[in-house]
Amino acid sequence: MSTRPVSTDLPLPPGPRGRRLRNATKRARDFQGLLEELHRDYGDIVLFEMPTSPWCAVFTGDLAREVLTTQEQWFRPFYPPSNYDLLTHYFLQTSHGDDHRRRREIMLAGYAEERMRACANLILDNVDELIGRCSPNREVDMIDELERFSWRCMLDLVLGREPKLDPELGRNVLSAMKQDLLLGIVPFKEVVIKLPLPFNRRVRDTLKALDEVTYPAIERAKDPAHDGHDLISHLVRTAADGSAHGLYETDLEVRDEAYGHLCAAIDAPVGALTWGIHLVARHPDVRGRLEHELDDVLGNRPIEARDLRRLPYLRAIFREILRFEPPAYAMPAREALEDRVLGGYLIPKGTMTIVGAHVIQRRPEHWEDADEFRPERWLGVEAGDGMRPEDGYMPFGVEPRGCRGAGFAAMMFAFALASLFRDRRLEPLSRRPPSRTNIGIGVRGAYKVRIETR
Ligand code: HEM
Repeated sequence: MSTRPVSTDLPLPPGPRGRRLRNATKRARDFQGLLEELHRDYGDIVLFEMPTSPWCAVFTGDLAREVLTTQEQWFRPFYPPSNYDLLTHYFLQTSHGDDHRRRREIMLAGYAEERMRACANLILDNVDELIGRCSPNREVDMIDELERFSWRCMLDLVLGREPKLDPELGRNVLSAMKQDLLLGIVPFKEVVIKLPLPFNRRVRDTLKALDEVTYPAIERAKDPAHDGHDLISHLVRTAADGSAHGLYETDLEVRDEAYGHLCAAIDAPVGALTWGIHLVARHPDVRGRLEHELDDVLGNRPIEARDLRRLPYLRAIFREILRFEPPAYAMPAREALEDRVLGGYLIPKGTMTIVGAHVIQRRPEHWEDADEFRPERWLGVEAGDGMRPEDGYMPFGVEPRGCRGAGFAAMMFAFALASLFRDRRLEPLSRRPPSRTNIGIGVRGAYKVRIETR
């Protein structure tokens, strides 16, 4: 990879000039819609303006690989500094270069496949609670229920299973994180966060409540007799045995890494499951085939970890949902650290670069009937086959920053969806699909279903 200065004679990518406020408003209302419109009007690489900087969106697998892998060292993940001390240090997702490599190495052990498989019971216990709340003859808001489920799974994984917290706190942490992220692109945010507004107070109260359970969890983990499998225990042990490269020496550093994981991993599983319920309910043929497989393998009993390999159609549904409606429909933005070239165009230093995964995964050159939801296309496909950006598939991102929790997420999806559809019918109350968030990952608002006995 050349490090020579880039010629500034190169053209800028095509795109609308000006329209900053319109772009910012559309991003806040319908980010995915904005990306689809830019792709339709300007092509595979588009430069557009936002109030704080120029943005570039790329819509092919090859360009995605350039940004996320080949030229990764010049495109660092952009996370504006936290406005509320939610995260005061870098953590895995926000770090870059050697810092990221060191954290990733530590996390490889923290998220090792074997360790994740050992978490099956933790997920199954939380599925029991989910199923108990989604009993037949009720109407429920699935996004609400799934956020509660995802929050509990992540809390158990990250903090350990001891703290029993008000589930409301989970919802508040999620909205605090999103508010914090969105403030990053708001002008005069320094003034906004100081105003005595209810949302500022809510974020600070939420953080205080979360700190009140996190610091005791860190203290517990320091006890040499403690053998917890949670992420905090892993970080504390790594720092104690000297293999953390000087990281996680203070409680605040451990807390920040833990919060990073807690916040970053809740939305995507909720998105996958909500879209799963929507798409299965809207495709009676898919629902019929899934019910048939569940009847065959489970009969009348609840799902167990050993069933997973005997449910190929459920696995195919998961892969197809990740293609058709990827929870991370736009990868977290990368900031160009210097002038770079993408697709023959100049990308000026400071440009926020976004990969439109949703558009890439519907490209007809990669997928037959790309706009059709067809789980059957995955039957017989080995794990890992054709799962690269250049094949038009990248729901879990790309190395060196690929998702560490893919195995855990697959279990959350399979256990929850199988349990919901085994003996019940979920009928969405509206024909409207779930709404996307404006941060590139997950769903928002309400998604109500009526639950019947099957
Ligand atoms: C269906 C569910 C999920 C999807 C679609 C998903 C997707 C992604 C994507 C696209 C990235 C790359 C982001 C980037 O390039 O900036 C990522 C990173 C990551 N994910 Fe997930 N994720 C899911 C669930 C989870 C879960 C449940 C966990 C934790 C148990 C998790 C942990 C992580 C971590 C730690 C990273 C950062 C890796 C790094 O920067 O080195 N994810 N995920």
